[in-house]
Amino acid sequence: MKLSIIILAAGKGRRMHSDQPKVLHTLAGRPLLQHVLDTARHLSQHSLHVVYGHGGEAVRAAIQTPGIHWVHQAEQLGTGHAVAQAMPAVPDDHQVLVLYGDVPLIRRETLGQLLQAPGDGLALLTAQLPDPSGYGRIVRDHRGEVRCIVEEKDADHAVRQICEINTGILRAPASWLRHKLAQLRNHNAQGEYYLTDIIGMAVADGLSIHSFSPSDLYEVSGVNDHRQLAELEREYQRLQAEHWMGEGVSLRDPARFDLRGTLQVGRDVSIDIDVILEGQVKLGDRVRIGPFVQIRDVEIGDDVEILAHCVLDSAVIEAGCKIGPFARIRPETHLARDVHIGNFVEVKKSQVGSGSKINHLSYIGDAEIGSAVNIGAGTITCNYDGAYKHKTVIGDRVFVGSDTQLVAPVTVGDGATIGAGSTITCDVPPEQLTLSRSPQKTIQNWQRPVKKPQKT
Ligand code: UD1
Ligand code: CA
Repeated sequence: MKLSIIILAAGKGRRMHSDQPKVLHTLAGRPLLQHVLDTARHLSQHSLHVVYGHGGEAVRAAIQTPGIHWVHQAEQLGTGHAVAQAMPAVPDDHQVLVLYGDVPLIRRETLGQLLQAPGDGLALLTAQLPDPSGYGRIVRDHRGEVRCIVEEKDADHAVRQICEINTGILRAPASWLRHKLAQLRNHNAQGEYYLTDIIGMAVADGLSIHSFSPSDLYEVSGVNDHRQLAELEREYQRLQAEHWMGEGVSLRDPARFDLRGTLQVGRDVSIDIDVILEGQVKLGDRVRIGPFVQIRDVEIGDDVEILAHCVLDSAVIEAGCKIGPFARIRPETHLARDVHIGNFVEVKKSQVGSGSKINHLSYIGDAEIGSAVNIGAGTITCNYDGAYKHKTVIGDRVFVGSDTQLVAPVTVGDGATIGAGSTITCDVPPEQLTLSRSPQKTIQNWQRPVKKPQKT
């Protein structure tokens, strides 16, 4: 079937009370419109048209999908008018599928049903709602055939009792649709050109109307305000949590799991509560993630343990590493196998060799650290001179005593030992003890000052 998909995304989204166009608000880290585009892209061969208006260029700039035909609707005169704007680019022998930029979770399988209905008729997605208020109602005749759609604002009391609503999603043959859109009038309660009026026209023309329902209501739920956005976010996260548990991931509490991106997992991965995974995350076999951890664009090897309250961003963590609690791993960090990073340690743009340990209260930035190195508590690489960043290079088997400052650029040779409390400003030779420390002295008979008793 030759298909043109038209996605309506011109509305302002007044109830979001936001300067950002509604369709750019994110669900699971992706703009609402991007969800619809990603679903649309997976349907059969087709062309994609997006009708945009409010927030114009920002919408185009934020969307990654290539090959979109962008159609500007300067004034929002109604859904029928919006679809009409895209029609000049749609060939007569196509089917048109209308989707919405603010209805993000429609499923491919559901749309597949609409596409399989006979091509000479109309296919309509409707839903039964316990509270249908606000929606257009599906009016059927005594045989149960669809007669027309009536918008709530144009409906009388009897029509308002109908609980079957129009989701807005429909499919129609292009040549017929083009013809009918040209005949729409805006003589209704809202003074708009209603797309829904084409249903009555189809009945008058004797076209068959096939209606379908989604398997779940979240699929056709729109986002009009932040409350609905949050509800859909939870729904989406619930579905993802179920999926990953089905794949063997142990989630301590599926209601406190957030994946805002893509995940790849090995076997026997366990994830504690309130873990946020963003971007592209890869977890090897037997990875254990403690509570309150944020991980973005990180690849984690087998048997790694991340303890509570860690933040990891754009890094590679090889097998057997142990990180945290309270550690921060910043972009361009690479930890080789069996590295230990302990509490209150920040590592930025650094390579750490296998088996090395940085266990307490340190800042390591722009460093290259060899294997089997021990970095003592409170060690700091002074990598920034106020204008430029400089590198610290530390060889294998180095022992850095506690509270050492390494003033970069500086190189420490293999097997060197640095005494505690040193400020290292020159290169350190291998296999020897280096320290910079003022000699300790004791002052005899020194008296600690005492407060004199106050006179009364
Ligand atoms: C529409 C349907 C209604 C259905 C409901 C489902 C019509 C006349 N009514 O009503 O039957 O129950 O959706 O949510 O179609 N848009 C444009 N340009 C416009 C007008 C709208 O792009 O000129 C876009 C909006 O951004 C929005 C969508 O179309 O994403 C729906 O528009 P909206 O005004 O919200 O329609 P409803 O009144 O909710
Ligand atoms: Ca709406």
